Formats: sequence, structure tokens, C-alpha cells
Amino acid sequence: MAKNKIIIANWKMKLTLAESLEKAKKFKEKFKGFSRGEVVVCPPFIVLDEIGRLFKKTGLKLGAQDVFFEESGAYTGEISPKMLLEAGCQYVIIGHSERRRFLLENYAMIHQKVKEVLNIVGLTPIVCIGEESEERKTDKRDFVLVDQLQQALGGINIMENQQVVVAYEPVWAIGSGLAIEPSEAEYAHKIIGLALNDMFGLGVVNKNFRIVYGGSVTSKNVKSFADLENIDGLLVGGASLDPEEFYKIAKGILR
Ligand code: PGA
Repeated sequence: MAKNKIIIANWKMKLTLAESLEKAKKFKEKFKGFSRGEVVVCPPFIVLDEIGRLFKKTGLKLGAQDVFFEESGAYTGEISPKMLLEAGCQYVIIGHSERRRFLLENYAMIHQKVKEVLNIVGLTPIVCIGEESEERKTDKRDFVLVDQLQQALGGINIMENQQVVVAYEPVWAIGSGLAIEPSEAEYAHKIIGLALNDMFGLGVVNKNFRIVYGGSVTSKNVKSFADLENIDGLLVGGASLDPEEFYKIAKGILR
């Protein structure tokens, strides 16, 4: 069954607030009338609300780059899933490798985050997994991917109305200009799909899960990914900062 493809722009911490708003306006112009698949933009927290208002009544959707794993309470500096929904988010990236590396986020935390996000109707987690370069070289990739999936999602019951996006982002391919070979991405997606089938059953995976690729995607290599059967979309970092370039990638994958 063909799934509704999705493309996600992750702006990380690369823009000032003024630049984020400027960029969001350009996205709005560029994607006017664009109605293929889903296009999600993930700006920094403090401009979510404003960009959420800007995107109202457009086809563009809003996502956050992170979230906290409790509903509310004494958690200085943190943002709850409900707050994201209030700001207009429909998606949230969870467990990006940069957070795992710089904030020491682990899969126990990621698991809690996914659970809390799934409690909020209308908010979908984008769960990042992916092997390090060393793990790839030593043939541990398949094991690492299955283990990360089990830690992040194991034991969670996915309800009829809940959606999960799994983002396969090999750590060595992020921001490096070294995109994975499409055949290798296809293989990794197959491993991820099989592991998810084992965990949730084929019916749930077909209806409630999408698997996207992330890591050095550009308008030059998008076609090779778009041709693969088991890729439901893309997560784009660097190339999403240029509205024209991102638009080309969106057109390439959402055909
Ligand atoms: P990149 O980043 O496209 O710049 O490699 C992808 C990501 O970190 O999500």
C-alpha cells in the first residue's frame, strides 16, 4: 500500500529568529498551491508559535526539534508535548543524533518522549535512529538499528489514530555531504521494516508507520531516493535552509 510521503525540514539552531521568520515567509510563497504529500518545517522553539500562525491555512505543517518527556511540572527549561500542540505543531523530532551526542540523550529518554507525545492527539513523533560510522564498518548496523527501535518503541501500544515516523539517519551521513548509497538505504529500511513488523505486526506497520531517510540529501541526489520503493520520505537538514533547494527536493520525493 503506497503511503502518503512526507518531507521534513530540520533547521536546527542555524538561523536567528529574524532569519527563521524570513525563511518561513519564503517557504510559504514557494509552496503556495503545492499539494503533494506532507511538507513539515521544524524551526527552533521560540519561533514556533509565530511560524505556526504564518502557516495557518497553507499546506505547510509545523514540527518541533525536540520535546520533554513529562506532561507538566518542575522541569526548568523544558517544553511539553501539549505546549507544542498549542503552538501549532503536528510533528516533533525525537532523539536526533545531535541531541544524543551533545545533550547525552539516551533511548530510555527517547522512549519516554515517544510515549508522552503519543498521548497527545494530533502530535506525531519522528523518531530518529541510525548507526555510527564505526558500527557500520564493523558490521553492527543491523543489530544497532533493531536495538534502537526496541529501546525507543518496545512495549508501546500503537492505537488506530496514532502515527509514528521513523527517521533512519546514519550518523556518519548527517551534515557530512556523504549521503548513503540508495541501495544501502533501501537495505537499512528493509531491516527497520522487518523489525517493526516483528514488534507491531504488519497491519499496524502498514497503516501507522512511515520510514524516512535523513543525511546529506540534496536536489542532486533526491531522485535516487525517490526511485526506491520502501522510502516514505526524507528528513533534510542543511539543504532545507535554502527554500529553492528544499522545494526542488520536495518536488523530487513527493511525486
Ligand atoms: P543534513 O541533516 O541533511 O544536513 O545531513 C539531516 C539531519 O540532521 O536531520
